[in-house]
Amino acid sequence: MKTVQDYIRTIPDFPHEGIMFRDVTTLFSDPRGFRIAIDQLLHPYAGQPIDKVVGLEARGFILGGAIAHQLSLGFVPIRKKGKLPGKTIEQAYKLEYGEAVMEVHDDVLQPGEKVLLVDDLLATGGTAEAGIKLIERMGAEVIGCAFIIDLPDLGGRKKLAALGMDVHALCA
Ligand code: PRP
Ligand code: ADE
Repeated sequence: MKTVQDYIRTIPDFPHEGIMFRDVTTLFSDPRGFRIAIDQLLHPYAGQPIDKVVGLEARGFILGGAIAHQLSLGFVPIRKKGKLPGKTIEQAYKLEYGEAVMEVHDDVLQPGEKVLLVDDLLATGGTAEAGIKLIERMGAEVIGCAFIIDLPDLGGRKKLAALGMDVHALCA
């Protein structure tokens, strides 16, 4: 029986030379792969109180939307700068291959709300850290960070653990 990892392919030198790009589109496009990935992402949070699911652009939207639907919860997108139409708060961050700014609508989470943060991949942890900061700036609480892939050599898990985060990943 194929595992989640078996559905993911690695493409060398994308988007830059030296990057081994983990392509989850092959996981998403397979009905069984997508189903087991969503089920396994959710497994540790069964019975835990969660108010909202937050997804990080872009692949975190695909996972977060499916998870929010499964839990009958609302979904909140954290987007790259310049995409959201309403009033936003923003957070700069560093990537494995560049720099960027993330944004979220400033009224989308309420103080005290419990949030599950979702993305496809944890590398340096810069993107997730920016997301956590945005969520916490609204007074909400991140109860868990769920990823399909953790690239342990890039230090993201340690960075999030230092912020007191509970990290759940399905494969390396
Ligand atoms: C990828 C991935 C994560 C982020 C992880 O997104 O989907 O969001 O990188 O890297 P980090 O842990 O080093 O921050 P990317 O920035 O490629 O954006 P995209 O999903 O919009 O293509
Ligand atoms: N984001 C950062 N590093 C990545 C990688 N190696 N594969 C896919 N997305 C990434």
